[in-house]
Amino acid sequence: MTEEGASGATGMRTDRCGELRLGDAGRLVAICGWVARRREHGEHLAFLDVRDHTGVVQCVVHSGVEVRNEFVVRVTGTVRARPEGTANAELATGEVEVGDCEVEVLNPAEPPPFPVTDRVDADEGLRLRHRSVDLRRDRMQRNLRIRGAVNRALRAAMDRQGFTEVETPMLWVPTPEGSREFVVPARLKPGSFYALPQSPQIAKQLLMVGGVDRYFQIARCLRDEDLRADRQFEFMQLDIEASFVTQDDVLGFVSAAVLDAAEAATGTRPEEIPRLTWTDAMERFGTDKPDLRFALELVELTPVFAGTGFNAFKAPCVKGILVPGGAAEHGRGRLDALTDRAKQLGAKGLVWLKVGDGGTVDSPVAKFLSDEERAATVAALGASPGDLALLVADERPRVLSVLGTLRNDLGRPPVSEGPYRYVWITEFPLFEGTDDAGNPVAAHHAFTMPHPDDLDLLATDPLSVRSQSYDLVLNGWELGSGSIRIHQADVQAKVFDTLGIDAEEAEARFGFLLGAFRYGAPPHGGFAVGIDRLVAILAGEDNIREVIAFPKTQSGADPLTEAPGPVPDRLLGELGIRVLPPRA
Ligand code: AMO
Ligand code: AMP
Repeated sequence: MTEEGASGATGMRTDRCGELRLGDAGRLVAICGWVARRREHGEHLAFLDVRDHTGVVQCVVHSGVEVRNEFVVRVTGTVRARPEGTANAELATGEVEVGDCEVEVLNPAEPPPFPVTDRVDADEGLRLRHRSVDLRRDRMQRNLRIRGAVNRALRAAMDRQGFTEVETPMLWVPTPEGSREFVVPARLKPGSFYALPQSPQIAKQLLMVGGVDRYFQIARCLRDEDLRADRQFEFMQLDIEASFVTQDDVLGFVSAAVLDAAEAATGTRPEEIPRLTWTDAMERFGTDKPDLRFALELVELTPVFAGTGFNAFKAPCVKGILVPGGAAEHGRGRLDALTDRAKQLGAKGLVWLKVGDGGTVDSPVAKFLSDEERAATVAALGASPGDLALLVADERPRVLSVLGTLRNDLGRPPVSEGPYRYVWITEFPLFEGTDDAGNPVAAHHAFTMPHPDDLDLLATDPLSVRSQSYDLVLNGWELGSGSIRIHQADVQAKVFDTLGIDAEEAEARFGFLLGAFRYGAPPHGGFAVGIDRLVAILAGEDNIREVIAFPKTQSGADPLTEAPGPVPDRLLGELGIRVLPPRA
């Protein structure tokens, strides 16, 4: 992936620094780049390490040459083997050097604000303020190339599968993803605003009505939400939509693209992507973003305690996780800390059990449990002597969320650590919980098709309606979402009705989409993959900022440009905007 096919030769250079090898010995070469390091060698000579995007090479120059770190130079000289015993095995070019060099200074440079090397951990604020210096580092060069390779692989996969890339507008109207919008004031219509798209969702559905059949776009999306390791205000999606397809078709298109991307970035193709229903994911991993790199699955124990005399376990749901061999390493202190953590997560408590020889059980609550309950717990968990079990009893959603979080606390490696374990989560509920007015809230968005078997439940029991929506998860991160969309007006009206969106509001928010649907909407569905997240994981980074050329900081600022900043009063005047004093 890091090998570049095309020759690096230009009118100024014959070769790239990092590509010179023993086979080049004897060649007269010209290279261009930045001085990475200078070492004096005796009275008359100096070694210059010259760096470009492919790496560094050592050049032997006269000590009179006046260059310092980060000077931009063009060096001509002859490639030769390094003297016996001086090869550097850690460097790709470590067996050679460029001798008899002439150095042309193309541009001098001030000392950089931090050393340009992966070995130094510079403050991130400083790195972002001087991003152009930061990007010279190997790691950033590598990340940007991985990003390029991933984009290339995604495009090629979509092209191969008959998709057409179509651009959609940035100046748009509110979209249905439900985050806060960024807005742009309209000069020609003071008091009016465009919204920047949270995704091309509505536009791509209109393209389906427009007969495009298979659309994709490497699309910029904007959402004004709190920033985290996996969230930026602006981010990129591989956005796709296709007509006359089933869910299986969509999963197939996306699988091909993301497996190709992983192969392009890492050289190995992950296994075919397994599927889990949302219910199974929740029951086994306590989350809809399960990290399949480790076990520690949640085990159902409710039947074991159906008739228990232990008050804490007289609950709708009891589940546990087994930490194999965990008994010895969890002393009192760690168990108390786990209990506190469980309570902080909303549990009423946490029961721990240590399994001893012959199935004996050591636990502060052992005496409240019957012999049968203890034996059945050990059997259900598949526990062996030396294992530790952690049990929580509560309403089912609470048990799942507490144990799901403890599972991650106990076993989850950093997101970027291999192997890469993709998983599809299918059959999400159509709604998740209710809003303040008591209306169900769309789990994906309002255009998601209900599961065909559950249509009748819309009116009677909306929270139990499954949807034809699906997520792609990689190493515990949500990588993407999609659904089969509603294409019939009557089904859409029912869903809007359940969401508490009346006809007037539906018309105001999505009227142009619903209007277009009246002229013949094909059945269609699609998906969007978060490219920043995909690239970060494939590049071994735990924060998407490391794979974005010019990201914002956690507080939404750009230390490089100092955006966001004020605009001149004249401009505000043209836009018909008056800025209020900051709120206290
Ligand atoms: P959704 O809102 O789930 O779906 O977004 C899809 C994917 O985009 C990525 N993502 C982000 N990445 C970085 N920073 C952010 N702030 C951010 N927000 C989202 C995630 C996420 O899984 N229109 C639908 C898709 C569809 O139905 O076709 C949509 O946008 O990886
Ligand atoms: P209590 O009866 O509240 O003193 O709790 C006895 C033990 O059971 C303590 O170790 C608690 O942490 C634990 N416990 C209490 N409620 C629950 C619960 N709902 N689920 C799991 N453990 C609990």
